[in-house]
Amino acid sequence: MSVILAIESSCDETSVAICNNGKITANVIANQTIHEKYGGVIPELASRVHQQNIVPAVQQALAIAKVNKNELNAVAFTRGPGLLGALLVGVSFAKSFALALDLPLIAVNHMQAHILAHFIDEPKPKFPFLCLTVSGGHTQIVLVKDYFDMEIIGETLDDAAGEAFDKTAKILNLPYPGGPLIDKYAKEGDPLAFKFPVPQIQGLNYSFSGFKTSILYFIRDKQKENNLFVEQSLADICASVQHSIVNILLNKLKKAAKQYNINEIAIAGGVSANSGLRNALLAMKESAGWNVYIPAFEYCTDNAAMIAIAGYHKFLAEDFVGQDISPMARMNF
Ligand code: KG4
Ligand code: ZN
Repeated sequence: MSVILAIESSCDETSVAICNNGKITANVIANQTIHEKYGGVIPELASRVHQQNIVPAVQQALAIAKVNKNELNAVAFTRGPGLLGALLVGVSFAKSFALALDLPLIAVNHMQAHILAHFIDEPKPKFPFLCLTVSGGHTQIVLVKDYFDMEIIGETLDDAAGEAFDKTAKILNLPYPGGPLIDKYAKEGDPLAFKFPVPQIQGLNYSFSGFKTSILYFIRDKQKENNLFVEQSLADICASVQHSIVNILLNKLKKAAKQYNINEIAIAGGVSANSGLRNALLAMKESAGWNVYIPAFEYCTDNAAMIAIAGYHKFLAEDFVGQDISPMARMNF
């Protein structure tokens, strides 16, 4: 028997989930809208809002799952990577809660948890598989050999794919986070309207900083000719930028699949909610015979359900940590 309470507080979502014998029975997500007006996450504000949200979110998750806190068997939490102040709120809460109830503690790596979200529902990928993990802070191709045996075989050398979306949105005067808005406008645009340069990076690594700069110059030059360019061409710009980012992401994923001779392919992280990326991956089912795994929308962006399922597999392996544990802003697998 295992009933696990899981806490996620690495960035701007305070989330609490319950996992009952491998099944997610609650996944409460309190989004922090306060950052919208600043055009990005303000770490100090994120910590404060986590502090306000965390107890109500725990109470709500217990109520939804119809679980009494005395029925819990463990407390899992995100140890890192993430914003240190934000992580501190979740880690401190988890430690105090576990101490008060005399429960074991489970430390979870946020990036591993994004990948393990594929083990919440069916169909589940078979080991070994490749996972493209794309979020606001990371872009990685991961060789997943087992639940906690993962190797990064490619990653971004500078900006993450989510940043490429968010920074483009900022150039276009769209509010933060811009990724979902670019996705929305892209649906009405022509993906081939404008062409952007593809970064020439060796091996399986990525780079998005030059790409972002090329978009900045492109918009600036077009606005010199027509100051209403962005307003008039918003859908085409969004569709073309999205098409380019998806192509960049997919090209390296195809290369990795060939190199490692693996056709079990998953995507994870906030950017895996992007409809262009999801459709491009689905198309690979037909064209390359890949078995593709795409997370449900609620498990793409940050959530505690993924921390709970990772916690469940650590619970089975009796992989616990002591009360001397501390958060890590940077954390390897
Ligand atoms: O995984 P996540 O929620 O947080 C991090 O761990 O970073 O990812 C957030 C990122 C943001 O950059 C956001 O713009 C992007 O995911 N994102 C999207 C979409 N939904 C979220 N990017 C493109 N299209 C979307 N539909
Ligand atoms: Zn994340």
